[in-house]
Amino acid sequence: MNTDIIRLKQAGGPLKGEITIPGDKSISHRSVMFGALSEGKTRIRNFLTGADCLSTLSCFEKMGIRSQTQGDELIIEGKGLYGLKDPVDTLYTGNSGTTTRLISGILAGQSFSSRLTGDASIEKRPMKRVIDPLTLMGAKIRSEKGNGCAPLCIEPAPLRGIEYHSPVASAQVKSALLLAGLYAEGNTTVVEPVLSRNHTELMLEMFGGTVESEGTRATVTPAPVLRGCDILVPGDISSAAYFIAAALIVPGSEVLIKNVGINPTRAGILEVAKMMGGDITLENEKSGPGEPCADLLVRSSSLKGCVIGGDLIPTLIDELPVIAVMAAFASGTTHIKDAAELKVKESDRIMSISENLKKMGADVIPTEDGMFIEGGKALHGTVIDPYLDHRIAMSFAVASLMADGETTIENKSCVDISYPTFYNDLASLRQ
Ligand code: S3P
Repeated sequence: MNTDIIRLKQAGGPLKGEITIPGDKSISHRSVMFGALSEGKTRIRNFLTGADCLSTLSCFEKMGIRSQTQGDELIIEGKGLYGLKDPVDTLYTGNSGTTTRLISGILAGQSFSSRLTGDASIEKRPMKRVIDPLTLMGAKIRSEKGNGCAPLCIEPAPLRGIEYHSPVASAQVKSALLLAGLYAEGNTTVVEPVLSRNHTELMLEMFGGTVESEGTRATVTPAPVLRGCDILVPGDISSAAYFIAAALIVPGSEVLIKNVGINPTRAGILEVAKMMGGDITLENEKSGPGEPCADLLVRSSSLKGCVIGGDLIPTLIDELPVIAVMAAFASGTTHIKDAAELKVKESDRIMSISENLKKMGADVIPTEDGMFIEGGKALHGTVIDPYLDHRIAMSFAVASLMADGETTIENKSCVDISYPTFYNDLASLRQ
């Protein structure tokens, strides 16, 4: 019997209060990676201690990087670009696509061999998207089973800079190449079909590297001397998204979400909330250096359906599960399109969103690159299978607030990947 379940009751009243969101997952991963490749100490405040970021930390520990927690800071003792040591054992990346893909770029440039794998989900996710371009750079990287997935075996090889036109807008692909580019001869350029999140570019500059970004094009200069620095990780907008959605759909709610990263390459959910008629005010805005952030004051609103596609998709790709939940409570139809990438996330999210929404009584038609959601149907509590996907579990915890009766979320602990205190934080806003 599965005992890892949580039973959630419909919200009796509005959500009220303030919440501070844990650190951004993408930025936390990168701060460990750049910290490790720099000279001297890197001090990271508000590091996300979710399982994915701990996977990154443990991979670097296996390569000789020491870290310690002091007060609210994680300190990484960098060893410089050429200071990693042979991990001997297989590097285990858990459930983390970001760790697996970004670290592949770093490992391609090392003077030792390595083997890399993760959990059952990681062993099914496409790695050919990094294997192919890294191979063009001269890397010796292969999928052990020949299926384009992990385990990956990487042998030392000299790298050369290339100009790569990526078929997918993926920050993981872009970042893997920019990281490999640090070890290449000549510049490495990645051109994307649509700009994906640019945390790697911003952070590399903070550590003293040189990246030129123009539109969808980013070019890195090899062999910089990276210097450890202080990083303040903003709250993760992908985690804030659950509270944005919850406050918008539960009548009478008013929630202040503190210290949220609002980098435009990540903030598409704010655009969509606006298109749907959501009432969100930005307060206390802080721009760079580094990452911009703000507090978000969210008030419940009557939402209307909209079309979500094109260039917006990479800016809200991880928020689409909870946006689909918002759409189920909006009037009219929402069409999510151009989002085929949803199929290769921690679960096939086109399937996992639509199956679970349908189970709750929503009117959903999945498509090849998204879905149609006819909003306004009354939803009822049911048993949700999150397919071990943290974002599906959290999205349906939000749906449960407005679903009649009780909702049971199976394998509830999958939220530990990005937001270990999620259920308590959500409960703290209930009246
Ligand atoms: C991430 C990039 C996105 C996102 C993932 C984190 C990153 O993936 O979905 O959760 O930190 O670079 P893709 O690069 O595959 O779009």
